[in-house]
Amino acid sequence: MNKRIINYRNEILKNDETGHSIDHIDRVVELSKKILETEPTADIEITLIAANIHDTIDEKIVNDVNKSKEELVLFLKKQGINEDNIEKILFIINNMSYSKNLDNKIQLPIEGQIVQDADRLDAMGAIGIARAFYYGGSKGNKIYDSKIKPREELTHETYRNEGTVINHFYEKLLLLKDQMNTTEGKRIAQSRHNYMEKFLKEFKDEY
Ligand code: ADP
Ligand code: NI
Repeated sequence: MNKRIINYRNEILKNDETGHSIDHIDRVVELSKKILETEPTADIEITLIAANIHDTIDEKIVNDVNKSKEELVLFLKKQGINEDNIEKILFIINNMSYSKNLDNKIQLPIEGQIVQDADRLDAMGAIGIARAFYYGGSKGNKIYDSKIKPREELTHETYRNEGTVINHFYEKLLLLKDQMNTTEGKRIAQSRHNYMEKFLKEFKDEY
């Protein structure tokens, strides 16, 4: 991967405190490479650039999303990436997030399906559990409260409202397994899903 792309995303994500740090991006890139092995029709360059920069325009991380998008397009042009590919990369990262897809599911090209799967896999399993508590802590949310029930119909509007970390598993993390796009994504998701189920059972037993 182009060193300047790595530097660009590192600069934006270095101060993150919500679980979108550079190590998250590195894992999403590695998972994308793994899924690419079984998706021969996908364009490798588009997939890996999108994986590297997918969180650089996120509303949770940057103050001005539109300005960040403009800067990103200029930056990619400077790297000599052609306009069609830039357009495709922007479409992917604009539309792949979980919250964007709550109201209606957006059809992504195969490259976007791969990065979306990789991003979601990193919200599951042992890493996903760690990230959920880290995120909840950063927002001052409770770990668990038996009186607060998981919300059932989440929309883009209500998604960011307060909740408990344990409820986040029922509101999102346990639903991810059935929303995977690729065969390899589904395979990895199943074992991470099972691990989260075990964790929740143990948590409640101890509680
Ligand atoms: P996306 O990047 O697709 O919009 P999110 O920002 O919702 O997804 O999720 C990023 C990470 O933060 C995930 O690991 C997710 O589990 C965690 N997270 C998001 N919202 C919450 C929450 N309310 N409680 C705990 N963890 C959360
Ligand atoms: Ni991400």
